[in-house]
Amino acid sequence: MAKKLLITGGAGFIGSHVVRLFVNRYPQYEIYNLDKLTYAGNLENLRDIEGRDNYHFVKGDINDSEFLYSLFDTHRFHGVIHLAAESHVDRSIHNPIDFALTNVIGTVNLLNAFRRYCDQDHGRFYHISTDEVYGDLHMEDPSFTETTPYHPNSPYSASKAASDHFVRAYHATYGLPAVISNCSNNYGSHQFPEKLIPLMIHNISHRKPLPVYGKGENVRDWLWVEDHARAIDTVFHHGRLGETYNIGGNNEWKNIDLVHKLCEIMDRKLNRDAGESASLISYVTDRAGHDFRYAIDATKIKEELGWTPSVSFDEGFEKTIDWYLENEVWLGHVTSGAYLRYYESMYSGR
Ligand code: NAD
Ligand code: DAU
Repeated sequence: MAKKLLITGGAGFIGSHVVRLFVNRYPQYEIYNLDKLTYAGNLENLRDIEGRDNYHFVKGDINDSEFLYSLFDTHRFHGVIHLAAESHVDRSIHNPIDFALTNVIGTVNLLNAFRRYCDQDHGRFYHISTDEVYGDLHMEDPSFTETTPYHPNSPYSASKAASDHFVRAYHATYGLPAVISNCSNNYGSHQFPEKLIPLMIHNISHRKPLPVYGKGENVRDWLWVEDHARAIDTVFHHGRLGETYNIGGNNEWKNIDLVHKLCEIMDRKLNRDAGESASLISYVTDRAGHDFRYAIDATKIKEELGWTPSVSFDEGFEKTIDWYLENEVWLGHVTSGAYLRYYESMYSGR
């Protein structure tokens, strides 16, 4: 009988890449994608695989424990890869409660359902987390390792840290077979355009201001989303239970340097005069509690499991920009209605 695998948040940015990779690579699995389809979830992201025999979509909310119990009772999943979350730091500053509910309570609900209905000897629960749980770094600090103490600064990272702790605690207390990974910033296709890179591409295309927070000096470590999906495949199949694996691109960029690089490429691709896109840069009030720098030391996953990034930043960044330029319909779809109202209200307050 085919093994049943539950992927939560599969209609979102990273989740859709993970679902596609697993559906294509593992015909021996029945893949169930559980997603509430919040503003960030979009079934358009998976249009290319929606008719596949080994793929099933389930619309549902991880905050609804009765619904989860019924789903798990029916399917007795062999494994869970948990990505569903509220993921945007700025939104967490405006509305922390949704982050506490979905990211913390939703994760505990899933752990309870797994514990109650799934095979604890052969199954596994894989929790996808973020490097933001470690807090931030100064320029001269060494990168985050798996033993860096937790020091979350935003409501988003606090909620992800709390969910990591619950997963660890269920492993220690109940022996629940769990593994966690903490990844740096992802970039690539299908990312909701509230995040830096797709937002800037969208705004350059429409000659709108490019809101750079503070002085643009903050640093992020960028990883191609399909390399993250490959890392998730590796950790799911080969990671040691009870362990944490850091995943990163070894690719640090100051925000302002990244935005300038993007502007140069966009000028070329849109046949605009050199400097035209950069003239849209607008320095705006900084994000409250803005973490200065993230950087991942991915030695453990490299040495233990053999994973390394496969795509250079130059190649991945060009591909990403091309995808958004060729998918204006997708961008138009996700930037309509509720998103635009949210976006306008955020920036009118700055
Ligand atoms: P995303 O916001 O694009 O997608 C989240 C998905 O979860 C959406 O499809 C949404 O509909 C779904 N969802 C939200 N609340 C739900 C609920 N209550 N029940 C069921 N589904 C729900 O997020 P993303 O950027 O793809 O991130 C996915 C995961 O990876 C998150 O756990 C995030 O913390 C983590 N992560 C993200 C990054 C990054 O750079 N984006 C980096 C490291 C870790
Ligand atoms: O590090 C992993 C994390 O990366 C994930 O856990 C989060 O889910 C994901 O959203 C991302 O968080 P960031 O806050 O780093 O990503 P964001 O794209 O929102 O911002 C990247 C940097 O760019 C950050 O320093 C803030 C800055 N920024 C962002 C936006 C949206 C701007 O200067 N202007 C903007 O308009």
